[in-house]
Amino acid sequence: MSLITTKNLSKKQLDAIMNKAQEMEPYAQKKQAGTMMKGRILATLFYEPSTRTRLSFETAMLRMGGSVISVADADSSSLAKGETIADTARVVSRYADIIAIRHPKEGSAREAADYADVPIINAGDGAGDHPTQGLLDVYTIQKEKGTMEGLNIVLSGDLTHSRTAGSLAYLLAHYGVNLTFLAPESMRMKEEVTTFLREKGVSYTETDDTDTALRNADVLYATRVQRERFSNQKEYDRLKDRFVFNKALIEKHNASMLILHPLPRVYELSTDLDEVPGAAYFRQVSNGVSIRMALISLLLSSSL
Ligand code: NCD
Repeated sequence: MSLITTKNLSKKQLDAIMNKAQEMEPYAQKKQAGTMMKGRILATLFYEPSTRTRLSFETAMLRMGGSVISVADADSSSLAKGETIADTARVVSRYADIIAIRHPKEGSAREAADYADVPIINAGDGAGDHPTQGLLDVYTIQKEKGTMEGLNIVLSGDLTHSRTAGSLAYLLAHYGVNLTFLAPESMRMKEEVTTFLREKGVSYTETDDTDTALRNADVLYATRVQRERFSNQKEYDRLKDRFVFNKALIEKHNASMLILHPLPRVYELSTDLDEVPGAAYFRQVSNGVSIRMALISLLLSSSL
């Protein structure tokens, strides 16, 4: 099995991933050195910028005793010579046991999975999906809050282009949470996601007013305006700092609000928020290692 989107994951699969991540914590937290992946190779193919995702995939594999081979930028690989994703997937399957791929084209991870002989993990396909981030976001909320049931969760920012917000929203449909999408008209949550939520009978609210969204909020998930997905620089400049959250604003609504962000943050989270107890975006990063360890193990043992 490959992991391309969070849309089709069942609650049973989700629980298995969360439990496995929990089991992996001692290894992710550097308390124990793992050997369970000895002799296995992860290939990381990143054709778009990344710091956290690639490094945390590689950390996850290395701390489980496995090895990593990687293509760190598109210009240094055969894609630059015109090789197709299909051929790249066929070739890398001959070297590695599992592949994590990030590519600017939506649908690229699915295409790779169609031609690879080993499991593919989508590490971000354009504005499409980013399943491992969505999973680590759920893991973080559960860990920080103890339960998901009844939480008021606000997703804000560039909900049209943010692949992490979409992947997270699909997953949140499995829990009894109340969803609010805070975005201006031109960056509203993707139609594909809202259609899915309606089909699943999950109610959600959409607003462009910060105070309305944050009233009663337990969790704020902020995202960056995705500059690289705008064809019009002027439009990006108009929207880039449309929502900026700072300490005073959060404390006005709920001093213990959990604040998450997939990072990198640009304008949307002021640094004075870092001292707020609910600012969990750096703890969220550590959870990324446990989740990716869990996914690599489950996919390689065909137990998902
Ligand atoms: C996100 C991404 O690449 O989509 N970053 C990440 O993987 N943590 C979010 C972003 O780039 O804004």
